Amino acid sequence: MSQEPNRRDFLSSLTALALIESLSSHNLFGADVSPMLTDWYKQLYQISRDVADHKTKDLEFQSALEGLYARVNLEDLLKTLDFDKLSKQVDYPAKGAKSLTVDFKVGGLPTNLVFGRQVFAMTKGRSVVPHGHNNMATGFIVLKGDFRGRHYDRVEDHKDHYIVKPTIDRTFKPGEFSTVSDHKDNVHWFTAESETGFIFNVHVNNTDPTNQNGPGRVYVDPMGEKLSGGLIKAPKVSYGRVNQLYG
Ligand SMILES: [Fe+2]
Repeated sequence: MSQEPNRRDFLSSLTALALIESLSSHNLFGADVSPMLTDWYKQLYQISRDVADHKTKDLEFQSALEGLYARVNLEDLLKTLDFDKLSKQVDYPAKGAKSLTVDFKVGGLPTNLVFGRQVFAMTKGRSVVPHGHNNMATGFIVLKGDFRGRHYDRVEDHKDHYIVKPTIDRTFKPGEFSTVSDHKDNVHWFTAESETGFIFNVHVNNTDPTNQNGPGRVYVDPMGEKLSGGLIKAPKVSYGRVNQLYG
């Protein structure tokens, strides 16, 4: 078999890295991003690129993203997201969470092609409603406020329901994080326990070449029928229904 695709991948990685290096050396990343955070973004870009190109597995991306979240300087991240301004302009929904579009002041990085990002904002008792993910890897890090965060492994995927197993159920404070992939902690559900709460999210699509489904959210009700072995039958539901139940 020809080695050409691998060589091409290698060359495209080199081109991407050269581009980043070039931007960095020309100081186009913006004066308000610290060198530490610039390096952090470069690594975020690279791990996202690698999993999107199927050079790494989604589980490897998950662990790399957790490593990055663990090392982030939260204050710098808030500054880069222009959080003070962002958090003062939120039109909070009566149910559920508001998704706010955010961009990085890291000029030139072609992040749109690799990973999506947003900030979820909500008031006390409101949630990022329970949902699983198809062919997508993602991670949350709490920016402000306290949350109850729940995760479930997707053990089986049926036409009208998942079989899930609870894996995480704890309080998340600023700087604390969790991640999702097809293979680990696939369903998540975050509820604000403070007056307001903000979560930063990064997601990469098409991370699992074995998954025939396109990337996307799958809304489920994880409070469904309890089965043996700690498993739960979680019916697939509409966004309207899950928002009504848990938003
Ligand atoms: Fe999600």
